[in-house]
Amino acid sequence: MISMNKRKIISEITEYTDLEEMAQEDRTLIHKAMNAASTAYAPYSKFRVGAAVLLENNEIISGNNQENAVFPVGLCAERVAVFYAHAKYPDVPIKSIAVSAIHDNNFTDNPVGLCGSCRQVLLESENRFHNDVKIIMFGRNKIIQLSSVKDLLPLHFDLLK
Ligand code: THU
Repeated sequence: MISMNKRKIISEITEYTDLEEMAQEDRTLIHKAMNAASTAYAPYSKFRVGAAVLLENNEIISGNNQENAVFPVGLCAERVAVFYAHAKYPDVPIKSIAVSAIHDNNFTDNPVGLCGSCRQVLLESENRFHNDVKIIMFGRNKIIQLSSVKDLLPLHFDLLK
């Protein structure tokens, strides 16, 4: 008897090629993420990332990557923004996050894929507040949107389950 089972995990994403097609709230968030990218501290990678977090109280908190001469000590834009948002408003869930990046003085053509550590941090936020976080990854040629972090992190680790 064979009990082995192959299954597929499907994540739904929405792609946009034009900012105009997006909801005003999402466009505003993208612009905040783009502004934040411009002031990132990234002298080593020269890859400046900006993230903007929209909270359920409608406040927007921005962050950008902060590098360090001891490379692993630096922090990604997403975690700077998420940690600050939760430090400032410990009881307010996150509604959405937009991410953009500048390389060679231009915003990247392709959407910025969040690193695994940032995905894990956002997942914790979703679980903690029982509130899905919409993810918006900006690229000049394409913008990708997902309605939950769980779509970015299938089979995730969760200590409490
Ligand atoms: N980085 C971010 O800030 N966010 C991401 O999603 C990917 C990578 C930063 C880390 C480092 O400062 C630089 O980009 C190059 O990896």
